[in-house]
Amino acid sequence: MNKLDDDKIRLLLVDDEEGFRSTISKRLTKRGMKPVQASDGKECLDILEKEPMDVVILDVKMPGISGIDTLKAIKQTHKKIQVILLTGNVAITDGIEGIKAGAFDYLTKPVEIDHLVNKIKQAFEMIRLEKEKQKELEYRAKLEKKMIDTDRLVSLGTMSTGIAHEINNPLAIINESAGFMKYILGTPEMLKIPRRDALMMGIGKIEKSIKRAGRITHQLLGHVKKQESTLSETDIMPLLHETLGLLEKDIKDKQIKINWEIDKKKNIVWIDPYQMRQVLMNLLNNAVHALKENGSITLTTSESNDDIILEIKDNGIGIPKENLGKIFDPFFTTKSFDEGTGLGLFVVHKIVSSLNGKIDVTSKVGKGTCFQLRLPKYDKSNK
Ligand SMILES: Nc1ncnc2c1ncn2[C@@H]1O[C@H](COP(=O)(O)OP(=O)(O)OP(=O)(O)O)[C@@H](O)[C@H]1O
Ligand SMILES: [Mg+2]
Repeated sequence: MNKLDDDKIRLLLVDDEEGFRSTISKRLTKRGMKPVQASDGKECLDILEKEPMDVVILDVKMPGISGIDTLKAIKQTHKKIQVILLTGNVAITDGIEGIKAGAFDYLTKPVEIDHLVNKIKQAFEMIRLEKEKQKELEYRAKLEKKMIDTDRLVSLGTMSTGIAHEINNPLAIINESAGFMKYILGTPEMLKIPRRDALMMGIGKIEKSIKRAGRITHQLLGHVKKQESTLSETDIMPLLHETLGLLEKDIKDKQIKINWEIDKKKNIVWIDPYQMRQVLMNLLNNAVHALKENGSITLTTSESNDDIILEIKDNGIGIPKENLGKIFDPFFTTKSFDEGTGLGLFVVHKIVSSLNGKIDVTSKVGKGTCFQLRLPKYDKSNK
């Protein structure tokens, strides 16, 4: 550590002997450090309330609150501060007690100034290392959580696609049979059978549920219908127009305004157009659903070195903070039985990850939501 770094150490020197304090302080200042001074434990604790410190040099023998009690109080409220104790040379036990109470180290008086300077530097280094360790721990925890989430989504995805596939056949049979029963109940000889209305209502419920189950399998199987995904340089403009065309009725009914902020040169991506259509459909459908009358959707493109960035922004109801971590989970929905399956974003996430892209969301309740897609400009594996 050089002198420039030394003056970054926020240092507090606590001793009741004024002469000792000013001598040590002068010597430390000569070595590039700038200690603040306190004459007893109480003043020390008062200063720490107001001013952040890194290292405290603390005399053990002081009137009022003892050095050891001051140390204990510091360690309770300012855990990151390192304390160096100064003990009389006959009171080694104070030093040992201090270490037990969390002191970094102790030095016996009279103090050798170079020795003290070294200890201060070591204590400061310890703070730096602990900060780094803490940062690394936080980073690891974040990474692990992300990895677990991704793994979980991938395995859930594989499993649910398999199940959806298997459910399609029985679903078709149920649908056919319900249709057949409805037909029979509609024939003239059935018009007078008892409780015909209740039977019709039952069939109606079956049909409604089949529709929902059908939406679920459709979402999950949508992107596996075509076995191989074929990546190509694709213009996203026509895909956006096409998708908005499919949503035209809702857009007209709600008088939604579409703002285009698309740069013509920044809309060619390396994707499978079939899958991209499904991504856009789900995102735009959600945006339309989140909007009240006269709302707007803004479509923006920009670019980074490798990616095209597409933003789909609405000024609709927004997503509450506590839901933001769940929206990509399968079957998470805030919509009614008839309206949503909770699979839209799950599928979007799956497709975008498989295209080597990334999706992020920002949202504010009552203000709106923005989904940001990062999609590769070209096939990186060939370059
Ligand atoms: N643009 C948006 N604005 C507000 N909330 C949104 C938006 N997009 C998604 N959400 C929230 O995320 C939830 C999950 O969305 P997702 O698309 O996965 O399922 P869904 O829309 O509920 O059902 P489905 O997509 O099958 O119709 C929604 O129910 C909604 O609460
Ligand atoms: Mg949806």
